[in-house]
Amino acid sequence: MSRQIIIFDTTLRDGEQAPGASMDTAAKMQLARQLARMNIDVIEAGFPISSPEDFEAVSAIAKEIEGPTIAGLSRALPRDIERCWEAVQHAQKPRIHTFIGTSKVHVERRFHKTEAEVLQMAVDAVRLATSLCDDVEFSAEDAMRTRLEYLRDVVEATIEAGAKTVNIPDTVGYATPWQMYDTISYLFEHVPNIDRAVISVHCHDDLGMSVANSLAAVRAGAGQVECTINGLGERAGNASLEEIVMALRTRKDEFDADTTVNTQEIIATSRLVSMLTGFVVQPNKAIVGANAFAHEAGIHQHGMIQDRQTYEIMRPEDVGLTESQLTLGPRSGKHGLRARLENLGYQIADEEMDEVYERFVAMADKKRRIYDEDLHVIMRQAVTETVAQVWHLERVQSVTGSEMTPMALVTMRRNGGTHTRTATGNGPVDAVYNAITEIVDLELEVADYSVRSITQGRDALGEATVRVHWDGNEAAGQAASLDVIQASAQAFVSAINSLLLRDQARRTSEGEDVTDGHVL
Ligand code: KIV
Ligand code: ZN
Repeated sequence: MSRQIIIFDTTLRDGEQAPGASMDTAAKMQLARQLARMNIDVIEAGFPISSPEDFEAVSAIAKEIEGPTIAGLSRALPRDIERCWEAVQHAQKPRIHTFIGTSKVHVERRFHKTEAEVLQMAVDAVRLATSLCDDVEFSAEDAMRTRLEYLRDVVEATIEAGAKTVNIPDTVGYATPWQMYDTISYLFEHVPNIDRAVISVHCHDDLGMSVANSLAAVRAGAGQVECTINGLGERAGNASLEEIVMALRTRKDEFDADTTVNTQEIIATSRLVSMLTGFVVQPNKAIVGANAFAHEAGIHQHGMIQDRQTYEIMRPEDVGLTESQLTLGPRSGKHGLRARLENLGYQIADEEMDEVYERFVAMADKKRRIYDEDLHVIMRQAVTETVAQVWHLERVQSVTGSEMTPMALVTMRRNGGTHTRTATGNGPVDAVYNAITEIVDLELEVADYSVRSITQGRDALGEATVRVHWDGNEAAGQAASLDVIQASAQAFVSAINSLLLRDQARRTSEGEDVTDGHVL
């Protein structure tokens, strides 16, 4: 029987640390539900002491999500650990994850301490955490640049103090697969109590080796891998969950290990993360990229027709990629719609069904052929509209053509008041963005903008993604519509709303009165 590797997803914590990837509580809840549906073993829901919003999101996830262990991160400091416990204690299976840097540069330059002092802090942190919670994980931050004998002592001492999982992070993505294999093997040979804990790895992708390093650790005996959906994370990101899970499954012969992840949820989860964060997945990304299972070259297509195995090592359906289904038409009824949505993993309460059906009919009137991807958009819109908004987009009109300056007229609403502006621009989207910027009266900078079609054909929905900077912060917005100008405008307004809501939450947590004319 092959070993079961514990999959620890940190998209909501380390993934969210990617600049511009932050999610509000509603978005985090949505992702946590999807991770549970995917049968992830451990969800790291956030870093409770880092902000009141993070605390709220971790508590909300801990209260609702059943199945996976819910972990919260904390530095090796008593206040951090207590705050973490306050947030995760409601979970069916709570975990405190505490960490401290153990490499020379962390010990000496960051903490101005000795190795012995840092080791004592790690032990004290684990002892405090175990007095609160049965399941404690300790991470030796920057382990892969830590002196090996010292790392061995830290691992042994924290296991002795009660850590059930000890994580060996490659915090700066510096390791190679050989070094990782040797380090984990060394720990298994030299830590006498190692059988009392699960050894975990957590690799960053600065040199593009995070997945290889994680797999090398598994070969050397690691029992838990920390990773993120789409490899989201700080700088070059974390090891990609979908690549690790599919590598273990596809190459069982090499690893003699597997996971209990429901791989058929991979594509849906990847799309959800992309939608919630505005981080578009590159087309040639392994497993979840748009081209990952596309066989364009004639010679490949010929081989595939003879026998799929000639060029295919995984089946697209194993990651949840089905032929784009022509599912429903304008005359489909509510029962048909509900059945299809349930098939796609959506549970809809009776009182929500009328509204979902209305959206479906409105889309079917314009589009005639409704694919699964269109249904995902309808469901995302329903969720997005339940999230608090500052500005509402009421109307967008644009006029463009050859030999004329594109013009736009935009009407938006805030606090019951409507505001209309016209503007010109270098193109129709630029004109719309200029009008919106005038209305919201903020110094906004568009850092990135893209549009892609979601389904096939001339009546495909266009999905716009935009990243916006304001006042040192960045947020992404995404929206889909048959009209790409409309989608672009809505995506821009979503990003602006995220920036304003985040700003308001920050000011509220600092005790500022933010209700003066800025009621949401
Ligand atoms: O990269 C890292 O070292 C981390 C730890 C907090 C686990 O994210
Ligand atoms: Zn990390």
